[in-house]
Amino acid sequence: MLRTHTCGELRASNKGMQTTLCGWVHRRRDHGGLIFIDLRDRYGFTQVVIDPENKKAFAVAEKVRPEWVLQATGKVRKRLEGAEREENPTGEIEVLVDELKVLNEAITPPFEIDQEKDVGEETRLKYRYLDMRRERMQKNIALRSKVFQVIRKYFVEQECLEIDTPCLIKGTPEGAREYLVPSRIYPGNFFVLPQSPQQLKQLCMVGGLDRYFQIARCFRDEDQRGDRQPEFVQLDFEMSFCEQEDVMEIIQGSLRAVLKECSTKPLKGGTVERYTWQQVMDTYGSDKPDLRYDLPITDVSGFSEGCGFKVFEDALKAGGIVRAIRIPGGAVLSRGEIDRWTELAREQKAKGLAYILLKKEGPQSPLLKFFTEGYLEKLIQATGAQTGDALFFGADKFRVVCNSLGAVRKEAAIRFSLIDTSVHSMFWVTDFPLCEETEDGGITFSHHPFTHPHMNEWEKRHTDPFHVHAICYDLILDGYELGSGSIRIHEPKLQEEVFDLLKIPKEDQQRRFGHILKAFEYGAPPHGGFAYGIDRVVMILAGEPNIREVIAFPKDQKAKDLMLGAPSAMPQEQIEELGIRIVEEE
Ligand code: AMO
Ligand code: AMP
Repeated sequence: MLRTHTCGELRASNKGMQTTLCGWVHRRRDHGGLIFIDLRDRYGFTQVVIDPENKKAFAVAEKVRPEWVLQATGKVRKRLEGAEREENPTGEIEVLVDELKVLNEAITPPFEIDQEKDVGEETRLKYRYLDMRRERMQKNIALRSKVFQVIRKYFVEQECLEIDTPCLIKGTPEGAREYLVPSRIYPGNFFVLPQSPQQLKQLCMVGGLDRYFQIARCFRDEDQRGDRQPEFVQLDFEMSFCEQEDVMEIIQGSLRAVLKECSTKPLKGGTVERYTWQQVMDTYGSDKPDLRYDLPITDVSGFSEGCGFKVFEDALKAGGIVRAIRIPGGAVLSRGEIDRWTELAREQKAKGLAYILLKKEGPQSPLLKFFTEGYLEKLIQATGAQTGDALFFGADKFRVVCNSLGAVRKEAAIRFSLIDTSVHSMFWVTDFPLCEETEDGGITFSHHPFTHPHMNEWEKRHTDPFHVHAICYDLILDGYELGSGSIRIHEPKLQEEVFDLLKIPKEDQQRRFGHILKAFEYGAPPHGGFAYGIDRVVMILAGEPNIREVIAFPKDQKAKDLMLGAPSAMPQEQIEELGIRIVEEE
């Protein structure tokens, strides 16, 4: 070893000890003839002192620059009284240098390593290896490593086998576009990178492996957002001969273990509550509400017929709903803020965002002139609104109203600082609809096509397909969808019926899923599972605003690796070998 100690290790009790440290020059100060260098490594900072009497070492110390790599040998001594630094664990001591050696020089870095000054993300990502030397990244990467360890230990204790499934596979639909890998040996053919190991883990259950887990790398070519990356890792889990309860028990146990080991915040109420999809949509307008604050939505459809305001009346006539959200203290909202919130509602396809401000001097709203007598009073009573509050309304189809008022709810919590950040809120959402309507009026799965429907509703698929529910469950943490899972279909006939419901043509069923349909014919056990996004877990624990902050080498918001410069063009030769012709964009 080139060192005897790390830069975070030495204490007053090491006084008099001979030591050799290695690290980067964090800062150099010249003081009354002495040179002080803060030497930095992953473990901390240690002050080394070079006396001008030591001519050789002093000559070296005089020329070193930030980020040079040094080896310093010397004796540990207590710092002079008054020079101690309590905030630094090594702050009581320093090392008086005998010998100072430059292990490597460094050119001037594009940003200072020693300050959390605002450095543009583009620069940070381009020089990620330097960004990594900073405290924020070091902390996050260490936290991530710890989360991995806790998860691994937990699932091994649950008798799960850790099984690594391949990345060069065939498509598994999870709702995103897939990354393709062209085959050289079979030109015109492609491997697909897994959106998740979904089919493979189910096939492991057919294979009798009983309990599986994997920290699995997944690839999804979808629009980037703060909580998404083109590649990310899931804790992926599957078990046989189980019911929903069994999977939930194990998964929630794993996250309790992670929170216990890696977070200082308690779970709100100490419990992991459960809601049905219908309940959270009705009450909070979202299938992943943040329940660190309340702000419920109230249905006012029941007494809004004939209310005088055409927008509400028309929505009801068209089979829609009218709902309101009360924002305590919201009467202070400005015109500009209301316009911005209206824009948020419009992004969710709402046609507008009706509102009433309950000002001290009386209610204020463009709608009042339309209301029939007594309607305003009914609204106030139903929502429990008080002077000083605001009411916002959605009148449309169920999903549009939920999504728009859900967005308003979220915005209001930020605007009025309603989020209790001293706790975590974790809960289950169960019984999602099996299918959803697509934008063009078609039908698609809500989760993935292997989810088991509730059989008591299965006959309804012919008449009312969107009201068949699935045996599935999402886990929500602090307003993020952490993960989802389900009891799977293990009966080949039912799987085909689901593919039929999803209008996947028979030949496509065989081409895309023939292997799994076949496998199910060989005695597939009843099984179920779950997967949660580890990047998201770490992001939440670290209190970071996006998952790039907890990934060593993330892609940027445009799905590029700025450090490596990927994706990149390839030599013509290599492309031809794959039987691919590049078509220039017009
Ligand atoms: P799902 O598609 O819901 O389920 O994914 C599970 C969890 O993975 C995380 N996640 C992501 N994290 C970062 N970037 C992304 N692009 C991204 N996409 C998903 C989320 C999400 O909740 N096979 C099923 C699970 C199962 O049924 O067992 C699946 O993948 O935290
Ligand atoms: P309008 O009659 O379109 O001028 O709308 C009057 C008010 O109702 C405005 O504040 C609109 O933002 C709002 N509004 C319009 N359509 C809807 C709707 N479907 N749901 C809720 N509010 C709406």
